[in-house]
Parts: sequence; structure tokens; C-alpha cells
Amino acid sequence: MNVRTVLLAGAVALLASLTIFALSVDLKLLGDNSGYKPAQPIAYSHALHAGELRMDCLFCHTGAEKGRHAGIPPASTCMKCHEVVVNRAGTKPGVSDPSPEIARLRQAVQSGQPIAWVRVHRLPAHVQFPHSRHVNAGVPCQACHGEVQGMERVEQARPLNMGECLACHRAENQKQQQAGRAPGAPTDCTACHH
Ligand code: HEC
Ligand code: HEC
Ligand code: HEC
Ligand code: HEC
Ligand code: HEC
Repeated sequence: MNVRTVLLAGAVALLASLTIFALSVDLKLLGDNSGYKPAQPIAYSHALHAGELRMDCLFCHTGAEKGRHAGIPPASTCMKCHEVVVNRAGTKPGVSDPSPEIARLRQAVQSGQPIAWVRVHRLPAHVQFPHSRHVNAGVPCQACHGEVQGMERVEQARPLNMGECLACHRAENQKQQQAGRAPGAPTDCTACHH
């Protein structure tokens, strides 16, 4: 082996390891947004509405059993109650000053502009995730989103990366096969990547 060959082999090895490093950093960044917890334009609390008041997730996220997106409710859904309830003490007689958060909600309704909620969960554009198939198969929201009914502000609870999708799909299919049913959760690339 001459010096040139050794240098060339070294350069190739270095380039390869740099590429692998860059890819792994990229994959981690893309794959793990858990802990992301952005501030929202109105301090809406799931702990209060879905926890204490025990409202059903599907009352507001009506798309979750119908199609790809769970959907965020329009302000008119909030106004079903907040025409009357103006603050945390609003159910008590004699108190009528709206809380600043409810005042913001009413302003949004009057302006006719949708509330600019900040999106928490977002898969890369090359991935297809249909909510309805999961919800109708009985997978609870919490399996993917954590204990949302205890959150004052929504936080991404899990990485929701490809490894997690596949781990659940494989476990699910194994259960189905053991019960003598056809597996329904896909593991082929094109089911999730179009
Ligand atoms: C009264 C209406 C209402 C109810 C009931 C409700 N939500 Fe929400 N949800 C919202 C609103 C408004 C937002 C957007 C603001 C925010 O993120 O807090 C939201 C956001 C979310 C998000 C984050 C979406 C994103 O941007 O990625 C998840 C996940 C979620 N809700 C799950 C649930 C689950 C699970 C339940 C039941 C335990 C539930 N919600 C009950 C109104 C509701
Ligand atoms: C089913 C009725 C109902 C719906 C629908 C509803 N809320 Fe509420 N909300 C309440 C009640 C009741 C309270 C007061 C709870 C208490 O007194 O402990 C409240 C309290 C609040 C507060 C706290 C006010 C304060 O004084 O701090 C905010 C903010 C709020 N809601 C926003 C929203 C938003 C935004 C939506 C729509 C996404 C919504 N609510 C939908 C019933 C509802
Ligand atoms: C199997 C996992 C899984 C289950 C079960 C699940 N979600 Fe999601 N959810 C996700 C993923 C992944 C995203 C991001 C989707 C994207 O970016 O296309 C998401 C996004 C969301 C969003 C914001 C974007 C949208 O689709 O509107 C809301 C709101 C939401 N989920 C609510 C719910 C509720 C409510 C339930 C239960 C009724 C639920 N999810 C069940 C995985 C799940
Ligand atoms: C907690 C378990 C669980 C997790 C996590 C999960 N899935 Fe699924 N998924 C299922 C089950 C169960 C089915 C089969 C539903 C049926 O049989 O109808 C399914 C079905 C699907 C389908 C098939 C839909 C169709 O039309 O055939 C797609 C696509 C899919 N999942 C994508 C994803 C993606 C992308 C992720 C990760 C972001 C994910 N899933 C995470 C349980 C899960
Ligand atoms: C059950 C759903 C599912 C299946 C099946 C699946 N993927 Fe993925 N894949 C995902 C999700 C979700 C992501 C985005 C999150 C992440 O990067 O882990 C992803 C990310 C990727 C990426 C990273 C792309 C990037 O942006 O860096 C590649 C490459 C990839 N998938 C290839 C494949 C191949 C090849 C197969 C078949 C052997 C496959 N996937 C099967 C859900 C799936």
C-alpha cells in the first residue's frame, strides 16, 4: 500500500463517520420532540376542563374518530359555556368580572379571527398518521399523548418516532395473531410513508 492509498482510505473513513454522525443527530432531532410545551395565546387548561370538569376529549377534538386530524375546536365550542361562565368563580352568584383569559377568548370571538393556538405535535411531512384508525381500534389518547387530563399546559409526552410506532404495531399484531385474528397494524414502509 502506498501513502496515497492510505490517505485516501483515511479520508473515506472520516467522511463516512461524519455522515453517520450527522445522520444520527438529524434523526434524533427529528424523532424526539418530547418535553415540548409551548405557551398558548389563552391559558386554556386541560387539567381543569378534561380533568376536574371531566369533559370528554371527543367533545372538542371531534375529528379524532372521523379522519386523519383530531382537530382543535373553534372558539364557538368554548362559548357554549363561556357566554355564561366568565371566570373560575363564575358559577358563584354576584361575581361578573371576566378573567383576563376569558376576556381574550371573547375578543377572539368578536374579531372573527381563529385563535392562534401553537401546534405541539407535528410529524415530518413524509409521514402519514391517521387518528381515526387508532381511536376506533380502541387505542386511548393517553397511549400516545400521556395524561393530558392532568396537564395545565399541553406537553409532548413521548417521542412518537418511528421506533415507537413500530413497537406498538408489532406488539398489537402479535396480540391479534395469538387471538387468531388477522394483524391490522401495518409495518410496511408505504403504509406510513407515501
Ligand atoms: C374544551 C375543549 C377541549 C377538551 C375537552 C379537550 N381538549 Fe385538547 N385541546 C383543546 C384546545 C383548545 C387545544 C389547543 C390549545 C392547547 O394546546 O392547549 C388542545 C390541544 C390538545 C393537544 C395538543 C395538540 C397539538 O397542538 O399537538 C392534545 C394532544 C390534546 N388537546 C388532547 C386532548 C385529550 C387527550 C383530551 C381528553 C383527555 C382533550 N384534549 C380534551 C381543547 C380541548
Ligand atoms: C362544558 C363547559 C365548558 C366549555 C365547553 C369550555 N369551558 Fe372553560 N371553563 C368552564 C368552567 C365551568 C370554568 C370555571 C371552572 C371553575 O370555576 O373551577 C372554566 C374556566 C376556564 C378558564 C379559566 C378562567 C379563569 O378565571 O382563570 C379558561 C381560560 C377557560 N375556561 C377557557 C376555555 C376555552 C379556551 C375553551 C374552549 C377551547 C373552554 N374554556 C371551553 C367550562 C367550560
Ligand atoms: C397512536 C398514537 C395516537 C393516539 C392514540 C392519539 N394521537 Fe393525537 N397525535 C398523534 C400524533 C403522532 C400526532 C401528530 C400528527 C401529525 O403531525 O400529523 C397527533 C396530533 C394530535 C393533535 C394535533 C393535530 C391534529 O391532528 O389535530 C391533537 C389535537 C390530538 N393529536 C389529539 C388526540 C386525541 C384527543 C386523541 C384521542 C381521542 C388522540 N390524539 C389519539 C398520535 C396519537
Ligand atoms: C399504542 C399503539 C400504537 C402506536 C403508538 C401507533 N399505532 Fe398505528 N396502529 C395501531 C393499531 C392498533 C392499528 C390497527 C387499527 C386497526 O386494526 O384498524 C394501527 C394502524 C395504523 C395505520 C393503518 C391505517 C390504515 O388505514 O390502514 C397507520 C398508517 C398507522 N397505524 C400509523 C402509525 C404511525 C405513523 C404511528 C407513530 C407516529 C403509529 N401508528 C403509532 C396502534 C398504534
Ligand atoms: C408505523 C409507521 C411507520 C412505518 C411502517 C415506517 N416508518 Fe419510517 N418513520 C415513521 C415516523 C413517524 C418517522 C418520523 C419520526 C422519526 O424520524 O423517527 C419516520 C422516519 C423515517 C425516516 C427518517 C427520515 C428523516 O426525516 O430523517 C426514514 C429514512 C424512514 N422512516 C424510513 C422507513 C422505511 C425504509 C420503512 C420500511 C422498512 C419505514 N420507514 C416504515 C413511521 C413509520
